Amino acid sequence: MTTPISIAVKAAKEAGALIKNRLGNPGTVKHKGSVDIVTEMDKSAEELILRIITEQFPDHSILAEEGGAIKGSEGSGHERFRWIIDPIDGTTNFAHGLPFFAVSIGFEANGKVEAGVVYNPVSNELFSAEMGRGALLNDKKISVSQTGTVNDSLVATGFPYDIRTSENNNLDHFKNFTLRAQAVRKTGSAALDLCFTACGRFDGFWELKLKPWDVAAGALILQEAKGSLSDFNSAPFDIYGAECLASNGKIHKEMLDILSIK
Ligand code: IPD
Ligand code: CA
Ligand code: CA
Repeated sequence: MTTPISIAVKAAKEAGALIKNRLGNPGTVKHKGSVDIVTEMDKSAEELILRIITEQFPDHSILAEEGGAIKGSEGSGHERFRWIIDPIDGTTNFAHGLPFFAVSIGFEANGKVEAGVVYNPVSNELFSAEMGRGALLNDKKISVSQTGTVNDSLVATGFPYDIRTSENNNLDHFKNFTLRAQAVRKTGSAALDLCFTACGRFDGFWELKLKPWDVAAGALILQEAKGSLSDFNSAPFDIYGAECLASNGKIHKEMLDILSIK
């Protein structure tokens, strides 16, 4: 049966194969901002994903990083279904030939993400989840770590693209966590950071100013792996919001305390 999750998996795998082939040969690279780039492959991968999705679900709405928002056909009743797509999460890594990036595809129904896939084509790791059905890494169920303190934790973060011009650029939190955690990593792919927290490789992850396509699929995968999500003040996480705190649950409160240090 053709389900949103089966189409998300198919699209992520096909786009992943396309991108993997061009690792180290990204084509034209353009600047969207001082440090924010887009490659020819971001666009080609997104086109391929959209072709696969719209072939099956022509009435659905789309929110894709490179192409923006497309409203599904009015009156079909299907515009409330929306695909949230990041064709390459980790474009800077990809453009430099660093093999750490992913395709991220989330499927939202009536404002809630119900299915998500994050695929790293280089490691051939496919993280997926459907609401209420748990999270998988390839065919195996995954769950968050049991680490109980930040002192014993490996945590991850990233920096916003306005790091050079905004004071709210995460350098303060980065210092506070670096002084308290076992170690802090910056991988360059927020979608994989969430999935790595979901499968226990990381114990927690925080970042600000992420976009819905960075987190839609990864947040569902984390949630389905029994992780915790919130903003930096413990309010419910929103994929359209500005703050993302994800953890194994056990260190969530301690991470919130560290994020509140002035
Ligand atoms: C970026 C990655 C990175 C995060 C940035 C994102 P992109 O997405 O997720 O880890 O730190 O904030 O914009 O531009 O590679 O799709
Ligand atoms: Ca992204
Ligand atoms: Ca991207």
